[in-house]
Amino acid sequence: MAEQPILMFDSGVGGLTVLREARVLMPDRRFVYVADDAAFPYGAWEEPALRAHMLDLFAVLLERYRPEISVIACNTASTLVIDDLRRRFPGHPFVGTVPAIKPAAERTRSGLVSVLATPGTVKRQYTRDLIRQWASKCHVRLVGSERLASLAEVYMRDGFVDEEEVRAEIAPCFVEQEGRRTDIVVLACTHYPFLANRMRKTAPWPVDWLDPAEAIARRALSLVDGRPRPLESANGGEPDIAVFTSGKPDFAARRLMQGFGLTVAV
Ligand code: DGL
Repeated sequence: MAEQPILMFDSGVGGLTVLREARVLMPDRRFVYVADDAAFPYGAWEEPALRAHMLDLFAVLLERYRPEISVIACNTASTLVIDDLRRRFPGHPFVGTVPAIKPAAERTRSGLVSVLATPGTVKRQYTRDLIRQWASKCHVRLVGSERLASLAEVYMRDGFVDEEEVRAEIAPCFVEQEGRRTDIVVLACTHYPFLANRMRKTAPWPVDWLDPAEAIARRALSLVDGRPRPLESANGGEPDIAVFTSGKPDFAARRLMQGFGLTVAV
């Protein structure tokens, strides 16, 4: 019988930042990458509609791919529906991705931390609760970006990004207060690490950009069956696949997935 795959889920290409870390930690596993491109961007959805959409979609995905675990490699979705998914599909392990506010609060020296995310993630109660629970001693600025996830999509597909747009989107993250400056920016959208170099280049001063991808991959590793598998037979010869909910990824999206070693499913 073929191995059960690990399902890696995002609204677009952002989850690939988590997939690449997961592959390093679990080279003997088969992955199914699902991009809900028909519904991108999640950042703009109303909460009840996105919740219902995700629950319906996962009923289909779990039935079709029978994964061992599912990684919701999307902050915008996780901060809204991770608890609902666990309730609706008890027994199936879900790994969520939520803003790395706790590690940021532990590491900051200036006490000024910014959380860069989609407008959806910024307005979630889940995010507010994380701040109250872990960062009550810090000054946390929440920055909801309308454009960055789409800029990352274009950058990854077409190789181009307008640096002035990146500069404008990240500018509100940089706060100066009583001689102190923001020293950590939490990348609370899985699309953003793809733009990290441009962010570094256009930032007014150097900061730590916190990317939680490796931590998410470690959490996934801790949940999968630990039996070692010989690399060549790990997936029964089946390739890792990419699934687009639109059913019609363009040439650039296909090429990108191939670059990540994923065969686009038809
Ligand atoms: N990659 C998603 C996240 O981590 C968001 C992109 C979107 O707006 O759909 O939040």
